[in-house]
Amino acid sequence: MESISLITSPCQIYMGCNVINRLCEDIKFLKGKRVLVISDSGIRKAGLVEIITDIISKKFEFEIFYDIEPEPSVSTVDKCVKYARKSNSDIIIGVGGGSVIDVAKATAVCLGNKNDIKNYYGINKVPEPSIPKILIPTTAGTGSEVGMYVVLTDENNFKQTIASKYLLADVTLIDPLMTISMPPNVTAETGADALSHAIEGYVSVKANTYSNMVGLEAIKLIGKFLLRAYANGNDIDARIGMSEASMLANMSYGASSLGAIHALAYSFTRYFGFSHGRSNAIIMPAVMRYNYIANQEKFSNIALALGGNIKNLPVSDAAAKVGDIVEDMINSMGIGTKISSYNIAKSELPKMAEYTLENYERLLRYNPRMMNLDQAYDVFLSTY
Ligand SMILES: [Fe+2]
Repeated sequence: MESISLITSPCQIYMGCNVINRLCEDIKFLKGKRVLVISDSGIRKAGLVEIITDIISKKFEFEIFYDIEPEPSVSTVDKCVKYARKSNSDIIIGVGGGSVIDVAKATAVCLGNKNDIKNYYGINKVPEPSIPKILIPTTAGTGSEVGMYVVLTDENNFKQTIASKYLLADVTLIDPLMTISMPPNVTAETGADALSHAIEGYVSVKANTYSNMVGLEAIKLIGKFLLRAYANGNDIDARIGMSEASMLANMSYGASSLGAIHALAYSFTRYFGFSHGRSNAIIMPAVMRYNYIANQEKFSNIALALGGNIKNLPVSDAAAKVGDIVEDMINSMGIGTKISSYNIAKSELPKMAEYTLENYERLLRYNPRMMNLDQAYDVFLSTY
């Protein structure tokens, strides 16, 4: 275990049904006068932007920026910053899933600084604080609303990460009622992302008491509530449980690290345009089967936390079951975990393994089991 851990969180996190009703109070506290609401067309169609603008319209002037695509690009942030500067916005409200939240965070940072976002790629490159930002998630997946990272796609289709304490929200409002309009496929994919965050944060070689605690609790909540939320989007208890899980899962990996699930999954997005959540879901069971021998005690805890039938099994047998337990969950939500079922040729696998090793060594180094190029290829092949 590494001896230094960094634990961060937004200044304030309010959580609960109808918590968005405190929005005007928070804008006032942050001395905001001209609000820029950042969202996307899907969230708008679902009526969620209107809920927010109805709350703020009586007290504040506002503009709305909608033009955000999934896996958002650097140029989208540039456009949003230009729009915000033109409208003299002095406070940002991000309302949406991970893509929207990341654009909102990046925009707020650019407005508090002089340069474009491309100048801040990497760790701690942002010199000055951002303008105030309030983040309101409408999915239960990335947990980006409590994290200090932003991931953007650059002009070469590469993922660029920005890590800065100035990306943390001033206020995060986690209102589970804002997630009930998510369709089942989005519930499934974002929920799988949350599960991968929780597991990776928990089993990372950088894990610590804090990441263990919140990671395992997130895994328990996901085991209890993800299939319920998928089966019935109006199940409020399930939506509350998944909103809590998504937050805790992000906090877990934020205090330790991601690992091989994310490292391998990025190649599905890079070469085939799959969503981030689906990419993680496809490869997660195979990575579990590869990883479990590195920490059988933790993997047997995961099996138990996910409600697996492991009574009276020795720790090693329970740990070995995690791959099957996770795969059953993912398949139950209509997501295939065989690469061939996506019409991807076997000849693509070497390229995917090379991309993983070339670009994500920074994640693989914290995976509980070491992984080289041949092993990455074998993991892809094992679930072909
Ligand atoms: Fe993720």
